[in-house]
Amino acid sequence: MTPIIQLGLGGVGRALARQMLNVAPKIRRRYGIDLRYVALVDSHGALAGDPALTDTQIHNILAAKEAGQHLDSLSGAITDRHWLELLPATIAIVVDVTAASNHAAPLAAAISAGHRVVLANKRPLCEGFDLFAALTERGATRYEATVGAGLPVISVLQSLIDSGDEIISIEAALSGTLGFLIGELEQGASFAEAVRTAYRLGYTEPDPRDDLSGADVARKALILARTCGMNIPAYAVSAEALFPPALSEISITEFLQRLDEAESEIMSRFQAARANGKVVRYMTRISRDNGIEVGLRELSLDHPLASLRGPDNMISFTTRRYHDRPLVVRGPGAGVEVTAAGVLGDIIATAREL
Ligand SMILES: NC(=O)c1ccc[n+]([C@@H]2O[C@H](COP(=O)([O-])OP(=O)(O)OC[C@H]3O[C@@H](n4cnc5c(N)ncnc54)[C@H](OP(=O)(O)O)[C@@H]3O)[C@@H](O)[C@H]2O)c1
Repeated sequence: MTPIIQLGLGGVGRALARQMLNVAPKIRRRYGIDLRYVALVDSHGALAGDPALTDTQIHNILAAKEAGQHLDSLSGAITDRHWLELLPATIAIVVDVTAASNHAAPLAAAISAGHRVVLANKRPLCEGFDLFAALTERGATRYEATVGAGLPVISVLQSLIDSGDEIISIEAALSGTLGFLIGELEQGASFAEAVRTAYRLGYTEPDPRDDLSGADVARKALILARTCGMNIPAYAVSAEALFPPALSEISITEFLQRLDEAESEIMSRFQAARANGKVVRYMTRISRDNGIEVGLRELSLDHPLASLRGPDNMISFTTRRYHDRPLVVRGPGAGVEVTAAGVLGDIIATAREL
């Protein structure tokens, strides 16, 4: 049996558990690997199996989570022990599909005890570089879904590096939400209208400033740069925010009302680009010489990212081998099903290694 502890039962976590129930029998037949949840954990508690949770128990837990319950309300819930104490004596895979900010140290402790880690949560990789190194050394952690959701981004980058290629630069559009907004502006919407539409359609985080600040993109950029071996502290990565500081501390409702205050600055950038025969993209650029840059950039029409429309992600690797024409990965960079599938791919790859 390959024991799995999953932290997080939100949109991605529930999709992952459902996919796991579906594919586990096929994986057993194909590879002789028996993937089993030994515990499922949310922000309030855990449920553990003896030795593993049955499919019926998992279905019941998923139904309770869909109904908005926390695990501490279910019979048999464990609330007085940290999930580290639920790890079995044999090697387990700890899957973090939360957005918790305090998991880096316990995950590193799990690795020191010989366990393996799979992440959709970016935050553990964005603390000190020493923690990044502790988590990732000797491939102890897989984290494909942290950048580009289910797209093969980290695996492509690692394979380029492992095969002796030299990364010259990475240029990327890493936010589906900002891609959607830019698409709306190019269709003639105002910035305020575009943000309000994205908010109404549920395309933004509950607080749209979490997208518009660029902080999430900055975390993805840091993960890419660190995967390239760049020892960059998190504080050194600054992202361009698409709203003025005066709108940082107000309520979400007031923010949505006062978006017009960000209008003229953003629209003038788009108008200037159009006048120059260029387009604007919210872009991440990583290079050894200039480090990490995250913000709005004017691009000529022959730039790979200029062809991008709407919420897709695109990651363009310029390397010694892929020099004249970069290697490009493009597709949906968010969504619970594709993200869960990326995590599941990492779990299966880890289990096969074990
Ligand atoms: N959604 C996407 O398209 C996407 C794409 C790529 C990456 N990701 C990343 O995937 C992660 C999960 O995303 P999501 O959309 O599923 O988020 P979500 O719906 O907000 O779910 C988060 C889950 O984590 C649990 N949680 C929070 N703190 C915890 C803690 N300290 N210990 C145990 N569980 C804890 C929550 O518990 P409760 O249920 O008790 O509240 C909830 O079940 C995030 O890091 C996100 O950035 C998401």
